Amino acid sequence: MSSLPSSVLVVGSGGREHTLVRSLLRSPASPRVLCAPGNAGIALDVPCFPVAADDIAGLVELAQREQVQFVVVGPEVPLSLGLVDALQKAGIPAYGPKADGARLEASKVFTKQILLKYHIPTAAAGIFTAVAPALDYIRHRGAPIVIKADGLAAGKGVVVAQTLAEAEAAVHDMLAGNKFGSAGSQILVEDCMVGDETSLLVVVSGRDYVILPVSQDHKRIGDGDTGPNTGGMGTYSPAEVVTPELLARIDREIVKPSVDAIASEGIDFRGTLFIGIMLTPSGPSVLEYNTRFGDPETQVVLPRLRSDVLELLWRAAQGTLAGFLLDVRPEAAMCVVVAARGYPGKFPKGDVITFPAALPPQTFIYHAGTARNAAGDIVTNGGRVLGVTALAPTLREAADRAYAACDALQCTAKYFRRDIGARQLRRP
Ligand code: GLY
Repeated sequence: MSSLPSSVLVVGSGGREHTLVRSLLRSPASPRVLCAPGNAGIALDVPCFPVAADDIAGLVELAQREQVQFVVVGPEVPLSLGLVDALQKAGIPAYGPKADGARLEASKVFTKQILLKYHIPTAAAGIFTAVAPALDYIRHRGAPIVIKADGLAAGKGVVVAQTLAEAEAAVHDMLAGNKFGSAGSQILVEDCMVGDETSLLVVVSGRDYVILPVSQDHKRIGDGDTGPNTGGMGTYSPAEVVTPELLARIDREIVKPSVDAIASEGIDFRGTLFIGIMLTPSGPSVLEYNTRFGDPETQVVLPRLRSDVLELLWRAAQGTLAGFLLDVRPEAAMCVVVAARGYPGKFPKGDVITFPAALPPQTFIYHAGTARNAAGDIVTNGGRVLGVTALAPTLREAADRAYAACDALQCTAKYFRRDIGARQLRRP
């Protein structure tokens, strides 16, 4: 194995990137860690540079100027714009797929074609660019049915239609109404699967891979899984709904076939394959692939690793992942996302946040949407503002710690769900 890099640039500005930064700082190799563009909290930990995550030329130039030896890319947009390809051309190793691999997230049609070609369990679907055949198909399949815009739509391009009228409206919005621009000029119409939804983060390097601890996200804004979908309001890990037996089945039927299929398509994927899975009565089935770490899944998964995250990501990027043994802490982790009231709709920005002087043990605040105002205060600057993660011997204790910290935060606009992990906590 080549020696570990002594300087790393993390690209992105959310809670996921703050967690990556903190995890890399914990490496025994003590790398110099930088971030672009970062946020007010990340800037408390490492130097941040005001280069946007979609400014490919600017990021390559920054990495060269700062003589960075390794780049870890957080969000999907720079991956799909070819940041890793551009860095490689400049001789800078990076963690994250090149644009061909990032297509697995950037095009739902591309992914569905791979899933079907390699007989990986997934819902039946039709692919359409015109309204009339899509409507015929929907009337034939019936509701509920799922309409997905092909391209990246900031998490908003999936409609689970409970009625034919809703499905037809979604088709019109995407194909005729241009709701998501070119991202919606092609759509998938997919059978609706029922069951528990879960996701797996898999660090992939060609045909080698490491499955990270299983976590569970909470997508809806309101307690009891009510209200509109969000980017994720909280996570916990381990997620006991995925038993060791079920995980072995998911590995056999989904993870390995997916990794092999991607390699067989000629894609040298070196990054995170984030597999959305529905646990249907007839078995696990793929909902989607993402090609980056989940947010806020990362906020509970990485703190549970005793393994060196720098070594894990570097070996994946170098193609030397085979034989990597993951060392996972026994503690449970919970992350409660503190959002700005109003999110995922309109929300205020610029609310001053006052942080508690002390946090419960093993409790960390990851910044997502924060900035500094002219007076130097840390203020809200996004829908999801903070991720409050706690580790503890049990999930109950992790919840108590995370919620104690959330309650102690002062911010007029703060909103968070009170029931993260409730389903698992209710289990005997
Ligand atoms: N938490 C879901 C996502 O990162 O897409």
